[in-house]
Amino acid sequence: MRFTVAIDGPAAAGKGTISKALAARFGFAHLDTGLLYRATGRKVLETGFSPEAAARAVTPEDLARDGLRTQSVAELASQVATIPEVRSALVAFQREFARRDGGAVLDGRDIGTVICPGAEVKLFVTASAEVRARRRFDELRASGQAAEFDDVLDEVLKRDARDMGRADAPMRAAADAVLIDTSEMDIETALAAAVAVVAAGLEGAGA
Ligand code: CDP
Repeated sequence: MRFTVAIDGPAAAGKGTISKALAARFGFAHLDTGLLYRATGRKVLETGFSPEAAARAVTPEDLARDGLRTQSVAELASQVATIPEVRSALVAFQREFARRDGGAVLDGRDIGTVICPGAEVKLFVTASAEVRARRRFDELRASGQAAEFDDVLDEVLKRDARDMGRADAPMRAAADAVLIDTSEMDIETALAAAVAVVAAGLEGAGA
């Protein structure tokens, strides 16, 4: 069975948690596409490759390495993600993943719009910038990284502006995406909303 769930949205809106939980619940494979851009940014730094060459050289093993989740790697990721040659070098891997047998969940910024416009289910998961910054701040503190709330909020706003403002594949909801605003939701409520959309999609696909 081929069945693609495309989940887009800004940083710390809850899409990672929702994607992982949906994949576990329905037995689908999961790809956090942000890791591709993070691994590309880090490879540029470590090897001196051009961003495009780094994107071409990224392997599945690179996605499993430690240290990709830091704020500094996120910043590098959002810079290389503005380069069209980087984005196109990463398209084939994502599309192949999306059509693998058994179903797939991909989360990112342009999955429903550019990578998988024909996805059976599309979600756009969002929340206010303040709520997202608070969640990211709590995560950083919990993992022992030093952080100030105002800096985290600045970082979130800067990355939102770059992700929405870039010319190639800007972050936006596909016209046929279901919007889930998690600002006032706990994770169980948000997940229940997402599960209902996927279940309806599976039923519609006759799966
Ligand atoms: O986890 P968080 O939302 O903070 O970041 P991420 O999903 O790992 O993405 C890091 C950066 O990669 C984002 O700020 C985007 O600039 C870029 N990205 C993208 O352009 N397209 C995607 N499909 C996924 C990530």
